[in-house]
Amino acid sequence: MNGKAAVRDPRHVIGQGDAVLVTGAAGVIGRVVVRVLAEAGMRVVAADRVEADADGAERVMVGDACEARFVEECLTGPEGAVDAVVHLAAFPAPGQASEDVTLVHNVQSAYLVLDGAGRAGVRTAVAASSAAAYGYAWAERDLSPPYAPIDEVQPSVAIDSYGLSKVVTEEIGAFATRRWGIPTTLLRFPFVGHGQRLAARLEQVQEDVGANRRELWTWLDTRDAARAVLAVLTSGLTGHHVLNIAAPDSTTSEPTAELLAKHHPDTAIRGALEPHGSLLDTRLARTLLGFEPEHGWRSVSTGEPAA
Ligand SMILES: NC(=O)c1ccc[n+]([C@@H]2O[C@H](COP(=O)([O-])OP(=O)(O)OC[C@H]3O[C@@H](n4cnc5c(N)ncnc54)[C@H](O)[C@@H]3O)[C@@H](O)[C@H]2O)c1
Repeated sequence: MNGKAAVRDPRHVIGQGDAVLVTGAAGVIGRVVVRVLAEAGMRVVAADRVEADADGAERVMVGDACEARFVEECLTGPEGAVDAVVHLAAFPAPGQASEDVTLVHNVQSAYLVLDGAGRAGVRTAVAASSAAAYGYAWAERDLSPPYAPIDEVQPSVAIDSYGLSKVVTEEIGAFATRRWGIPTTLLRFPFVGHGQRLAARLEQVQEDVGANRRELWTWLDTRDAARAVLAVLTSGLTGHHVLNIAAPDSTTSEPTAELLAKHHPDTAIRGALEPHGSLLDTRLARTLLGFEPEHGWRSVSTGEPAA
């Protein structure tokens, strides 16, 4: 659907009093998403395989998103199907399980949740993809994008199973939209954090700027990740979309064009690049959702508690 005119439909707008299932609700991003959606007046069903903080959630479900019966129970409560799904449950990086398990786990949970949401008549679904879907972040050899800023049509060159799991998760979203008509929006997040987690990342990048070349010095504040989820839910977008969501700036004080010249010399600069601008092109999210991140690290207090 990317690139085509977006169609909005009020039947897919999620608002106050609507029930939203959040999977991965106990995680770094999930906890903030639960709070932001609850603050927007939504009734949150918080699902995770560990008990999620009930703060803001109307219902807490503990179980495995790779089990069909548990997912069904989460999607349908006493009052019928939830209105929306935010699917965040996944291994969020390689190394937490073997490569095959990472792939199967992320794909199976995405299939059960997104296809199940369509089948249940849920009105819209949002899921976390990752900038790792492009393939650079976790590749076991150095790869460079053909051009930057990287837009959503740049093809994946993934050679790691986590990146592949996100490519397939996006395909599952497209599949659910084709099969059931449910709107699906997949958000490509780079490293997400704020507070201590962000401070640790910034320190790491500062110590060795080149070591972050694979992540292209991109990042996103956790609160902006949650705001992007809310923006999708309230947008009424129909169809299937894949959107980059990233902070406007990089994680280093070195100018972005210099970083590229030094660490990705074969990458062409295409279009406008701010002096410290992100190498992820976020114009599509701005166009479709009116979404602008609020947080750049230069204006953030890194003394806040970890997300
Ligand atoms: N944090 C990042 O930097 C980042 C970047 C890009 C994309 N993402 C994506 O965002 C999503 C959330 O990431 P996060 O950083 O909050 O990760 P996290 O590990 O902090 O949270 C994930 C949560 O999902 C739960 N979970 C995992 N598998 C489950 C299952 N089968 N059933 C039920 N619960 C399960 C975990 O218990 C955990 O609480 C993931 O899909 C991840 O791939 C994260």
